[in-house]
Amino acid sequence: MTDWTPTSWRDKPAKQQPIYPDACDLEENVRELSALPPLVTSWEIESLREQLSEAAAGRRFLLQGGECAEGFADCESTAITNKLKILLQMSLVLTFGLKRKVIRVGRFAGQYAKPRSAELETRDGVAHPSYRGDLVNGAEFSAESRIPDPRRLLRGYERAALTLNFIRALVAGGFADLHHPEYWDLEFVHHSPRAKEYQQIVESIGDSLRFMETLAGAQIGEMSRVDFFTSHEGLHLLYEQAQTRRVPHREGWYDLGVHFPWIGMRTAEPDGAHAEFFRGIRNPIGIKVGPPMAPESLLELLDILDPDREPGRITLIHRFGNELIADRLPSLIDAVRSASRTVLWSCDPMHGNTEAVDNGLKTRRFENILSELEQAFDIHAEMGSYLGGVHLELTGDNVTECVGGARGLSEVDLTRAYRSRVDPRLNYEQALETAMLIARKMAKMNGRA
Ligand code: PEP
Ligand code: CO
Repeated sequence: MTDWTPTSWRDKPAKQQPIYPDACDLEENVRELSALPPLVTSWEIESLREQLSEAAAGRRFLLQGGECAEGFADCESTAITNKLKILLQMSLVLTFGLKRKVIRVGRFAGQYAKPRSAELETRDGVAHPSYRGDLVNGAEFSAESRIPDPRRLLRGYERAALTLNFIRALVAGGFADLHHPEYWDLEFVHHSPRAKEYQQIVESIGDSLRFMETLAGAQIGEMSRVDFFTSHEGLHLLYEQAQTRRVPHREGWYDLGVHFPWIGMRTAEPDGAHAEFFRGIRNPIGIKVGPPMAPESLLELLDILDPDREPGRITLIHRFGNELIADRLPSLIDAVRSASRTVLWSCDPMHGNTEAVDNGLKTRRFENILSELEQAFDIHAEMGSYLGGVHLELTGDNVTECVGGARGLSEVDLTRAYRSRVDPRLNYEQALETAMLIARKMAKMNGRA
């Protein structure tokens, strides 16, 4: 690729980039970031790409989940372990129900930049620039805090490094060992309406594991170590550019700040700066596709981002909302097929189902989330395609942000524990319930096949 450099995106129109008050200060911080060591390695990235290609072929399932807007304050041990615990519990349920290996990808260790639909946020007649994620400005509603501050680029990199360091240490120390699912118990699990079903799954997995190990006469090593990969929206192009490097013994450039970056729906124009930046990195990439995406633009985008049709390169994360999916998804599946392309299809049932309730809070109805997911499985199956992943906004904490679910949260419950800075997340129980629904749905479909 001769006409690409990590900075060639600067010649294209770049949406959603903050305007910093002092350009010299910004350059200084970007220069400093560019000299710091990578957060991830090229071989981890290649291994993920390989695994994603297997998911695209129907042999694995991608579980991608975490914060909508990760904050610097989330870099704290309980928040991190709770997120790992819920992802591990969900992946256990999925592995059991799907009889497939699950790829665990967190929206963490760098999900600090947010695209915003409105430039300004108005409260009680006062307007300030919108919050764009901790990587850019402060969430506090004041003129001062909303000014983009380039030192936040370094703070973000550092928080991502601290988060990842803790995750790696936990995994290396056996936290994710399938022999010890009790390590992942969350305090309130025992009070959950879903607790019994989950405990049954844990017990039968324990039984199968002991059975296989008795046959093998040894511990099954692969079971005791699971990997977590990191992902975030590759929105802030200076931040991504600064961590994009060449590595010895491999061709090309890698964005070494993250394993799996994605292009958000608001920045997915084929002739825009994001497509330009992403086309030059070797990482597997996600593309959010929603209602504005026409089949022709999608194909144009795929030609730019994946000219060599590399297995595992592209994951299409569709997010239409429960009302539009049946109308819009089939033409995209057809377009991809008519271009003889193989992609991994994943469903984000969150972002097309956001609504505001009377008190102004944003919420999502659990029934709409599940309905979009069920429709997604059915549409892919009917068209002979394979839905190989889900993309969820969730937390291991007991928040009240999405309504519905086993405990029947209603709109009046929302204010009790609403902590998200941007979009409403599934709480622990709703997340586990979602995993159970997927497992049941796929088991039923496989039975039919
Ligand atoms: C997100 O994933 O938080 C997001 C903003 O998604 P989308 O680009 O699909 O709207
Ligand atoms: Co979101």
